[in-house]
Amino acid sequence: MTSPTSATDSAADAALARMTSILESHGPVVLPALLLCDFGHLTREVERLESAGAEALHLDVMDGRFVPQLTYGPIVVRAIREAARVPLEVHLMIEQPERSIEDYCRLGVEIVTVHVETLADPRRTLASIRGLGARAHLALNPGTPVDRVEPLLDACDGVLVMSVQPGHGGQRFEPPALDKLARLAAVRRETGGRFRLGVDGGISTDTIAAAASAGAELIVAGSAVIRSPDYARAISDLESLARGAT
Ligand code: DX5
Ligand code: ZN
Repeated sequence: MTSPTSATDSAADAALARMTSILESHGPVVLPALLLCDFGHLTREVERLESAGAEALHLDVMDGRFVPQLTYGPIVVRAIREAARVPLEVHLMIEQPERSIEDYCRLGVEIVTVHVETLADPRRTLASIRGLGARAHLALNPGTPVDRVEPLLDACDGVLVMSVQPGHGGQRFEPPALDKLARLAAVRRETGGRFRLGVDGGISTDTIAAAASAGAELIVAGSAVIRSPDYARAISDLESLARGAT
């Protein structure tokens, strides 16, 4: 994998700074997930989502082992990176992610999200991601207690609470995720932590307000955007509901 150029680095920094400033001034941001998009016209989908107002995109990398489905790897992420101007979050639903984080970081993705369930040495992996210039986020499955990530909060830049069993788009939101978000938000308040809170799975106009009110800021939405005929309307309806709830 080649390293991104410094011009790419500064464009990525500017895009990330823009997303952070929107988060701080307007509230939660919706990250469309590409999982259910038209992969035959990937570049067009990226352009459609960006022109619909997406401030960042969420890329679901699955290995057919940690989750049953197999999606794509660095070659496709590179194509998305070349097409996209907004920040990219790569959600690694793979075993032994430490073996491939360098590939993704070198492509210039802004956020690398690894599952706590997959990490032999979480601090080391999170430090490697940061050392390679990306934000290190930790995801946890519905069956994984918050206690597993609490001791690691100082070592990561964000936590992604899964509100479905990872592996497929279009599943129903699992409400226990709300308690996890609320607990993490409380810990952050009490400790002055700086990590961002995200949620992934089953987000729709019916569930987004509760997720935002519980503390979610980086809100992944797959089917709710991609299955809508009007991406701009879908993103703006979801963001309005999220921002109205915070
Ligand atoms: C699930 C993925 C999600 C998925 C979300 O394993 O991590 O990012 O694309 O899709 P929806 O929003 O349809 O649940
Ligand atoms: Zn995801």
